Amino acid sequence: MQRIELPPASRLRDPSFTFGVATASFQVEGATQADGRLPSIWDAFCATPGNVKNGDTGMPACDHYHRWQDDVALIRDLNVDAYRLSIAWPRVMTQDGQPNHKGLDFYKQLLDRLREYDIRPFVTLYHWDLPQHLQEHGGWLNRDTAYRFQDYVSLVSRELGERVDTYATLNEPWVSAILGHEVGIHAPGMTDARLARQAGHHMLLAHGLGMQTLRSEAPEAQAGLVLNMGPNTPNSQRYDDRVAALIGEASMNHWFLEPVLEGRYPELYTRLYPEQAPRILPGDMELISQPVNFIGINYYTRGIVSYDNEHWVKGHAAKDAEVTDFGWEVYPQGLTDLLVDLDAQYTLPPLMITENGMAGDDHLEQDRVHDEQRCRYLQSHLQAVHDAIEQGVDVRGYFAWSLMDNFEWAEGYSKRFGMVYVDYATQQRTLKDSARLFADFLRQRPTSR
Ligand code: FCB
Repeated sequence: MQRIELPPASRLRDPSFTFGVATASFQVEGATQADGRLPSIWDAFCATPGNVKNGDTGMPACDHYHRWQDDVALIRDLNVDAYRLSIAWPRVMTQDGQPNHKGLDFYKQLLDRLREYDIRPFVTLYHWDLPQHLQEHGGWLNRDTAYRFQDYVSLVSRELGERVDTYATLNEPWVSAILGHEVGIHAPGMTDARLARQAGHHMLLAHGLGMQTLRSEAPEAQAGLVLNMGPNTPNSQRYDDRVAALIGEASMNHWFLEPVLEGRYPELYTRLYPEQAPRILPGDMELISQPVNFIGINYYTRGIVSYDNEHWVKGHAAKDAEVTDFGWEVYPQGLTDLLVDLDAQYTLPPLMITENGMAGDDHLEQDRVHDEQRCRYLQSHLQAVHDAIEQGVDVRGYFAWSLMDNFEWAEGYSKRFGMVYVDYATQQRTLKDSARLFADFLRQRPTSR
C-alpha cells in the first residue's frame, strides 16, 4: 500500500484531530529492578510457570527505561501529535507512600523531551501494574486500594505538574477486573465472577477518587478514562443468540461506561446475575459518575456471541473471516457501528480512540518488515473512524497500538503489535512498512511540521 486514502475534507485531516502512538509501562520499560522499582502483580504473575507463554517476563521488554531517548526520537520521526504512555505506580512510589525520585526523574525527563519535540503527552495512570505489596493486602478486592490509588494520583500530579496535558485514570478496567479475577489469565490470576465485579467496582471508585484529585491538583489537564469495547454480534437471528449478544453488551461494553456516564450498573446484567452484583456504599456512584473530559475507546475486534443452553458464550471470530495473528477478526465496520451505537445510547463526552491495532506474523528481512496486513488494517480502521464522524460522533483522536512490539501480557513476546519491529536480543528497532505509511500520512496533513 502506497498511502492512506481518506476523503479530502475528512475531519481526520483537520489540525485539531490528534494522532498518536501508544505503549504501557510494563510492556515496554523492562528494568524491573532498577532504581528502587518495587515488584508489581505482573512480575509475580510472570514468575509462576504456565501463566505467560514461553515463561516470558517483564525483562527485557523493550528496555525502554534505558533507551527512551532513542525511542522518543523514533516517535518524533513518525510525525505524531501525541504519545500515550503509562506511569508505573511501583516505580514512582515507595511502599510507605513516599515519592521515589529516581523513578519520577525517568518520567520527568521523558515528558520534557516530548515537550521539546512538541509531542503532547497522554498519560495513563494505571495500566495494570499494581504494586505487589498492595496485592498482599487484597489488591483490588480491598476497597482501600482505591484510596491508595488516590494517594498515588496525588503524588504524580504534584510531581509531574504541567508536564502532562491529558490523564487517563485507568486503562481497560474490564480487562484487569474480569480477565484478572474471573477468567484468571491476567494478574492476579483469580477465578471468581463475583469477586471480579467487586474488583471492578473498586477500580471505578479509584477512577472517581483519582478524578477528584486531578481536578484539584492538575486543574488544567484533561482527564477521563479508557475502556475496551467491541460489538457483540449474535451468532444467528435465533432469539437465544440475540439475548446472549445483549448480555455480552451489558457485561462488557456497558458495565464500566454506564456507571461513569449515568451513575448505575446495567440493569439487564444485575437482574440476571444478582449474585455477581458488587457491594456499593452510599456515595460511590456519585463519585464514579463525575464529569470527564473524554472517554478513550480501545477497539480491536468484535465477538460473535451465542447461547449454549446454560450460558452466553462469547467472543469468537466470524467463520471464514480474515483474522490477525491473535485469531482476532479484522472487522473495521465494528468500530463505526460501536461508535454510532454508543452515541445513540448515551450523552457522550468527546471520544478518543486510545488503542487500535493488530498482532502480525512479522519478520525482519533485509532491514524491512512488510506488514501488509497491518497497513490495510490501519487504512480500514481510519476510514471507520471517519465514517463514524460523518454520522455525527465526536471523535477527537486516534492512537495506534502500538509504537513498537512489546510484552503482550499472557502471550509474552510471541505477539507483535508494533509499528516498529523490536529484535529483543539486540534491542534493535526497525520501522515496519505500516510505520512508514502512518508517518507519510501524518507528514502530508496541513498540520505537518
Ligand atoms: C489491550 C491493552 C494493551 C495491549 C492491547 C493489545 O487490551 O490495553 O495493553 O496489550 O490490548
